[in-house]
Amino acid sequence: MTVTLTCKEALRGEITVPGDKSLSHRAVILGALAEGETEISGFLAGRDCLSTVNCLRQLGVPVVTTEDRVIVKGVGLEGLREPAGILDCGNSGTTARLLLGVLAGQPFFSVITGDESLRRRPMGRVTRPLVQMGACIAGRAQGRFLPLAVAGGRLRPVFHRTPVASAQLKSALLLAGLFASGETVVSEPEKSRDHTERMLAAFGAKVACEGTTVTIEGRPRLKGQKVNIPGDISSAAFFLVAAAITPGSEVVVREVGVNPTRAGIIDVLKEMGAELEIGGVRVESGEPVADIRVRYSELAGTEISGSLIPRLIDELPVLAVAALFARGKTVIKDARELRVKETDRIAAVAEEVAKLGGRIVPTADGMIIEGMQALAGGTVSARGDHRMAMSLAVAALRAEGPVAITESECTDISYPGFWQDLAGLQKGAAG
Ligand code: S3P
Repeated sequence: MTVTLTCKEALRGEITVPGDKSLSHRAVILGALAEGETEISGFLAGRDCLSTVNCLRQLGVPVVTTEDRVIVKGVGLEGLREPAGILDCGNSGTTARLLLGVLAGQPFFSVITGDESLRRRPMGRVTRPLVQMGACIAGRAQGRFLPLAVAGGRLRPVFHRTPVASAQLKSALLLAGLFASGETVVSEPEKSRDHTERMLAAFGAKVACEGTTVTIEGRPRLKGQKVNIPGDISSAAFFLVAAAITPGSEVVVREVGVNPTRAGIIDVLKEMGAELEIGGVRVESGEPVADIRVRYSELAGTEISGSLIPRLIDELPVLAVAALFARGKTVIKDARELRVKETDRIAAVAEEVAKLGGRIVPTADGMIIEGMQALAGGTVSARGDHRMAMSLAVAALRAEGPVAITESECTDISYPGFWQDLAGLQKGAAG
């Protein structure tokens, strides 16, 4: 599908964005491993989370979806059954990595794979420690890529220092730690998102966090919960940036998750001079939630690096777009992980923006962007990467001519309804 956006339209109005992707995956996985029912509201019905639901069903977990709820009938830590077919994670790195942690602890055989993009993404960082814990995992390049065959079983707890700050890796090891007797400890170079730790605690596991180290006690009894999932800040990000850079805009995004390990974009946009107000902060299901108002204002360039990076890793492509229109230079560094996302997002954002006449200088671990640029109309490709599609849509709002975005249907991976929500906010400005 190709979407063509016409230039320079302001955004006005209020929206709620779909549920948080990270929380949706975790809620169904923990619901499956718990005893009793887990009732989830705000579940993201995006393709990635549906991949997790399908895999869990293949593992024998009843998952019922109603109009506004997902009900998971938990089978308990010992209740999963050997899948008859291959578990397909589609495009979802979170599904693959988190499920690898679960499968490692199962006394059965399973095979897990994904789409072309996911089959290129690094899995060795997860399979290596899982093998150390006692799982047998085989696959191409010594188990570094999907498809992977897993013969799980009795796991030993480990102390693992991760080479990168990755919530997917940390979560895989914490989930495997549920099946090991004793304490599994995961220590990261920087703190990545802590949704798994928070939710495990809410389901009754014993989890302790100290700085960048998490300890989990194995073999707990998890109990089904009611989980309310807030809007995904990574989806809200596109409208926050769009409104901040498009003259005449004012947008309120309601009920957005603002967990500090995810909310780096708020700090950076404020630092850049955006007019951002955070209101109505409350806690729901152990996660902070707020309403965010943003108005157009002139932005200034900034540096984004260090411990900030894991707090906004998925927002870097759209922040690079913001930097194109800011006064002065923006430097993004320490973000090598961007190269192993759904696409190489450093190369993708630089090459696609170049098709509109914009200049983003790619570096090994980030980007350098001189601001105050003008973009022309043209045709760009989302490359099958949902966050690329939506970042390019934001860039299109400031282009001098129409921008056609090919492969734009991939927004369904994390944000079904994105194009309608964008059009609704543009209408809000016109009306
Ligand atoms: C996610 C963690 C992040 C992020 C991804 C979702 C998660 O990846 O990019 O979209 O739900 O745990 P990392 O594993 O690099 O932290």
